[in-house]
Amino acid sequence: MSLLSFCEWLASTRWSIDLHESLYMYPLIETTHVLSLLLFVGTVLFVDLRLLGWTLRDVPVSEVVGRIIPWAVAGFGIVSLTGFLLFYAIPVRTYLSIFFRIKMIMLVVAGVSVWTFHRYMNRTAAAWDRDPIPPPRARLAGAVSLLSWVTVIVTGRMIAYDWFDCDRGQSAFVSWAAGCPAELP
Ligand code: HEM
Repeated sequence: MSLLSFCEWLASTRWSIDLHESLYMYPLIETTHVLSLLLFVGTVLFVDLRLLGWTLRDVPVSEVVGRIIPWAVAGFGIVSLTGFLLFYAIPVRTYLSIFFRIKMIMLVVAGVSVWTFHRYMNRTAAAWDRDPIPPPRARLAGAVSLLSWVTVIVTGRMIAYDWFDCDRGQSAFVSWAAGCPAELP
């Protein structure tokens, strides 16, 4: 079963149809998606700015991370759950959206960057934890994280626009990148 036919099956389920056609539930979920990203990205932003040495310079990095990350994890949980529900409501169009695909790739990039940074921090933080300007590796992690989340937000916003939808006759490259099937579902 290809991912596209899986999305077609998802779109045929009762709950997906009800959610897509709902008058209040879909906007409520989308609003929660946007509000929860404030909690997630709004908190992660201060960890990244500390890693870049641009703010909270007199606070040890481990203290900033320790206090902020639980809020960020809560926000990420809600933004991911609501994101999946938004996807579930319109699975085929979203799966074939070039913006959604870029967003998912950037989510993976951000995830890998967070994971590698935490491994590096656990190994070396004792040496630079109180430095107002952390070492280049930590600053790079802050910059990659910040750029990834900004890209996730911008591409998330762009999902609603149909400029590159498969049914609008796209170039060969856009059709390939969006995964447009030869015959549209
Ligand atoms: C931290 C992670 C995430 C952030 C920061 C984020 C951010 C956003 C933003 C800013 C929008 C635009 C909302 C609007 O137009 O009103 C959006 C829309 C959307 N997001 Fe996310 N998102 C995240 C995770 C996810 C995940 C994990 C999924 C699904 C697997 C997802 C699926 C969607 C979909 C389908 C839309 C389009 C909704 C629409 O236009 O109707 N998001 N996201």
